[in-house]
Amino acid sequence: MTAPTLNLIAELKKLRKEIEHHSRLYYRHDAPEIPDQEYDCLFDRLLGIEKQWPELISVDSPSQRVGSEPLSGFTQIKHEIPMLSLDKVNSEEELQRFESRLQKRLNADSAINYSCEPKVDGVAVSLLYENGLLVRAATRGDGSKGEDITHNVKTISDIPLRLEGHGIPGRLEVRGEIFISKSGFKRMNALAKSNSEKTFVNPRNAAAGTLRQLDSRITAKRPLTMFCYSYGVVEQGELPDTLTKVFDCFNDWGLPVNPEREANTGVEACYAYCQQLLASRDSLDYEIDGVVIKVNQFGLQDTLGMNARTPRWAVAYKFPAEEVATVLNDVEFQVGRTGTITPVARLEPVFVGGVTVSNATLHNMDEVARLGVKIGDAVIIRRAGDVIPKVVSVIQSRRPKKARSIKIPAKCPVCDSDIEHEEDEVLMRCTGGLVCSAQRTQSIIHFASRQAMDIDGLGNKLIEQLVEKELLNSVADIYTLELESLTGLERMGSKSAENLLIAIQNSKNITLNRFLLSLGIREVGEATAQALAAHFGNLEKVMSSTEEALVDIPDIGQVVALHIRAFFDESHNIEVINKLQKAGVKPSEIAPIEKETLPLHGQIYVVTGTLDAMSRGEAKERLQKLGAKVAGSVSAKTTCVVAGPGAGSKLTKAEALGIQVIDEVGFLSLLERHNKPG
Ligand code: IVH
Repeated sequence: MTAPTLNLIAELKKLRKEIEHHSRLYYRHDAPEIPDQEYDCLFDRLLGIEKQWPELISVDSPSQRVGSEPLSGFTQIKHEIPMLSLDKVNSEEELQRFESRLQKRLNADSAINYSCEPKVDGVAVSLLYENGLLVRAATRGDGSKGEDITHNVKTISDIPLRLEGHGIPGRLEVRGEIFISKSGFKRMNALAKSNSEKTFVNPRNAAAGTLRQLDSRITAKRPLTMFCYSYGVVEQGELPDTLTKVFDCFNDWGLPVNPEREANTGVEACYAYCQQLLASRDSLDYEIDGVVIKVNQFGLQDTLGMNARTPRWAVAYKFPAEEVATVLNDVEFQVGRTGTITPVARLEPVFVGGVTVSNATLHNMDEVARLGVKIGDAVIIRRAGDVIPKVVSVIQSRRPKKARSIKIPAKCPVCDSDIEHEEDEVLMRCTGGLVCSAQRTQSIIHFASRQAMDIDGLGNKLIEQLVEKELLNSVADIYTLELESLTGLERMGSKSAENLLIAIQNSKNITLNRFLLSLGIREVGEATAQALAAHFGNLEKVMSSTEEALVDIPDIGQVVALHIRAFFDESHNIEVINKLQKAGVKPSEIAPIEKETLPLHGQIYVVTGTLDAMSRGEAKERLQKLGAKVAGSVSAKTTCVVAGPGAGSKLTKAEALGIQVIDEVGFLSLLERHNKPG
């Protein structure tokens, strides 16, 4: 074996220091600076080096520490049965290999039955019930010793202090994950912010920090919940022979179990479950980082046994990380449809949330200042679901000496026109209007997009080419495109050109709301376009509406009304609309709605407490749009009260008067029921 080089020894020293720094931030302060994935990478590198050169392992290497350091103030608890961790897999092939290993050990080739559950990203805990009473709760700690957090766990309303039902063993240790929901996390951070208190980085750290509170009155105010996923000690009684049946018992006894759990036979079915869960990851109200797949039969689990720290009968299928670290190579300024200039981060390409990302939005200069980001910085990128990737923070400890500040451009980076600053300089706007080719291109892209005119085949790249070749100067020019000029373009065969012309032709019959949306009037999105179409019924009436008439529409405020009026007062815009109409674009007329036919006509609603999905103002508007009146106080005339968390006297009064009360879930399903098309 080769001797370690001096470079390697230096790297090892740096690596240990870095790991110590980050593990202090993570465990002591519940405020990590880097994503877990990055921490795991550093640790893997350390273990890799130490494995190859064991002589380099020092007594103070982070690899010699087991789990988190004990915190003063908490009693240590030794787990009677160690709390294990899990082996990880990242692909279908690895999952298949896992099953093959099991089949080999079990000497059987038939498919195995598994319990599949979301791998919830929270804090692993153990709850001890004696004669049905919760007597002790502890964190997992290093797996063999944890901290006594009974005082805190007793404040969690989802966790029963007493189990109810039949067949409960006299001594039962239940294990599971305590976590904070995404919506609960948002609420709790909003509250902390308004009280000028420290906010948490993510729900998992908030849960960990909360469980380590010495003062359980603080814990009691935090939205902690739990899902139970296994057990430890079982005495004076027995549990059933499969995990699925144990979950049913837990459920009967009042212990919270994950409703997404599912038994599957064979790893193919488990893999399908993983894919399904990954697709709905965003819509779950709690963070998950994968799926735990466990052999369902305890008999088989016993036969399979354990490796050093992990059971052979279970595996964690890991989802792609949603937050990763990378480097900010540059910042460019992009000009949007209405001239807004946005800083865009050019990144060292990185795999995040399942795709490779090389750009992320920085929103505006205020955000740049808030992040304190410089070019050359190591940054954390987040991409969850289909949301546009964004820069969430800077890893200050990794700032290179050559990092440079981000400079605001003096002129429009595309057309060199002057820049106008709005709202205390936060927003920058190019004053070039349609002189600016970026604005022209973006307005045509918007016009042709799926939600607007939906012209199939007229994609961004093609529009850019057409604008550059001056075949498109405004959206009206789309309807003058001809086969000859199209076929001469890059990567455009005669078949696609023909199809494109058909799509353009078809787009002429369009609903009024889509047409209004496609015009790209500032602040007019789908909802406003819909409101305008429903209110006025035809294009001429929208075009000639006064500011006062516009403000009277529930969805439209002063600023939006002003933008709409300004748009139709611009002769250039009228010219384009005339051209479109001459070309045969015909927005369909809609019969204006009669108030009496609205589904909630004649009903009175009261909205109280906080809602996660929208503000109370928005909830009010949505109800009004459905024809309801929204009142500020509860009376005998009230039809229904929408009560979010934190609802106080209004809720009490509604209950006293026997008035219907719905929570946010009920409210959202009410909106959905009435918003169905047709
Ligand atoms: S089972 C031997 N089930 O994942 C089985 N763990 O690396 C041990 N976790 O520390 C755990 N959701 O905090 C299991 N449904 C689930 C889980 C789960 C989250 C966590 C747990 C544990 C880690 C294992």
